[in-house]
Amino acid sequence: MTAPLQLSRAEMETLGARALEMVIRHFETLRDQPTATPRSRDDTMTALHTPPPEQGTPVAELLDLLGREVFPYGFHADHPRFYAFVPSPTNFVSVLGDLLTSGHNVFAGHWLASNAASQIELTVLDWLRQACGLPESASGIFVSGGSMANLSGIVCAREAKLGGHDPTAVVYYSDQTHSSLSKGLRILGFSREQRRMVATDEQYRLSLPALEAAMAEDRAAGRRPFCVVANAGTTNTGAVDPLGPLADLCAREGLWLHVDGAYGAAAVLSDRGREILTGLERADSITLDPHKWLFQPYELGCLLVRDARLLVQAFRVDEGDHPDYLADVSRHIRADVNFFDRGVQLTRSFKALKLWLSMRAFGLAEFRRAIDVGFEMAELAEAELRADARWEVVTPAQLGIVTFRWRDGSRSSAEVDALLAQVVDRMRGDGYALVMSTMLKGRPALRMVPIHPGARAEEIRETVRRLTEAFEALSAG
Ligand SMILES: Cc1ncc(COP(=O)(O)O)c(C=O)c1O
Repeated sequence: MTAPLQLSRAEMETLGARALEMVIRHFETLRDQPTATPRSRDDTMTALHTPPPEQGTPVAELLDLLGREVFPYGFHADHPRFYAFVPSPTNFVSVLGDLLTSGHNVFAGHWLASNAASQIELTVLDWLRQACGLPESASGIFVSGGSMANLSGIVCAREAKLGGHDPTAVVYYSDQTHSSLSKGLRILGFSREQRRMVATDEQYRLSLPALEAAMAEDRAAGRRPFCVVANAGTTNTGAVDPLGPLADLCAREGLWLHVDGAYGAAAVLSDRGREILTGLERADSITLDPHKWLFQPYELGCLLVRDARLLVQAFRVDEGDHPDYLADVSRHIRADVNFFDRGVQLTRSFKALKLWLSMRAFGLAEFRRAIDVGFEMAELAEAELRADARWEVVTPAQLGIVTFRWRDGSRSSAEVDALLAQVVDRMRGDGYALVMSTMLKGRPALRMVPIHPGARAEEIRETVRRLTEAFEALSAG
């Protein structure tokens, strides 16, 4: 009898080739597939729910099942016409990186277990550090995504500025900040009074006068401002908060400046992005998600900290608290980089490999070109919309995002807003391109984020044409 859970070389080759073929076919045919394929809860349950499988099923059969019942459904965030939320266009080299990561199952928690893998992580973190303009003292860690990076950034800020929990300490951020920040703060024990949402200006950027007023009010009430979170590309509109003036204020007041660039900071690799993101280099910490505008498969987020020692101080387990079975690791703890000292996880995968592999394989110049497509396509969408007076551009193309609304003089705003929801549903049902809505200053608006490097001008035009047609048809009906 063979050992449990083992496959022969021939089986691995056959099944591996089959799984790879599925992925290659996905890459090849994605453009011809719908951007979204809905399915009801009942139908999905019927297709997939089974009792616990006491006996096995041939893997080839299971691959067929996945190809038929799983992968075609839901949203395809890697589709070239997926313009909703934050798209996640990927690349095949990074997929190979994930395969190698999983196949070798590298434990990337500490140097003893993963010296070479840790070095690759340090190297690719250093590339991102340089792109962001941070000093050599900076480094960081790869995490699951922006939510975890933001949470970890706040842990670091709290330790550095307060030395631990302080019920009077307050964090400030704009009303356009991603909800992951507020969630992270709540998880960390910050009460509602300690989470100060500040108003934005006409361009959806954090208002400095509103921030200063909120701080003055808090100080007068005996509270302790300690951290400002700025956006380097809000998810809603791509707005960039005034990073330079915020850095000045934080320096003056002794506050930590965390920049949530989960969506937009990756653009700093390109010339246009670097200009828009001036001031990013002054942050104390930065969230940057390679699984957004750096074309990596989920999950890959990153936290960079200006003084990496502060990250270690925030997360390192006190010597006496180390588990006994890690004694041999602990003997090396001072000398080496141990990623478990930089974040929440002990056991962690070699997430950095896919980014390293794709950056080495394509080169940064190619990444720059890929990022530029997002700028250009959002600008093209804006130009198409402006060419028809019935469209109102609510926020111009900025960092690859444009928001807009239909105008109809014969209808009230409420009626037009109701039509907008129907248009979104119609586009989703049609499947050609996914365009969804958001709320801007209390009113819904459509939003396009065409950052896929394979995005095509004619498809942007066709999408705007379909949106126009949908409004015309619904207005007439
Ligand atoms: C600006 C911003 N911050 C944080 C997040 C949360 O990131 P994640 O979903 O990777 O946890 C997002 C996600 O879209 C985002 O756009």
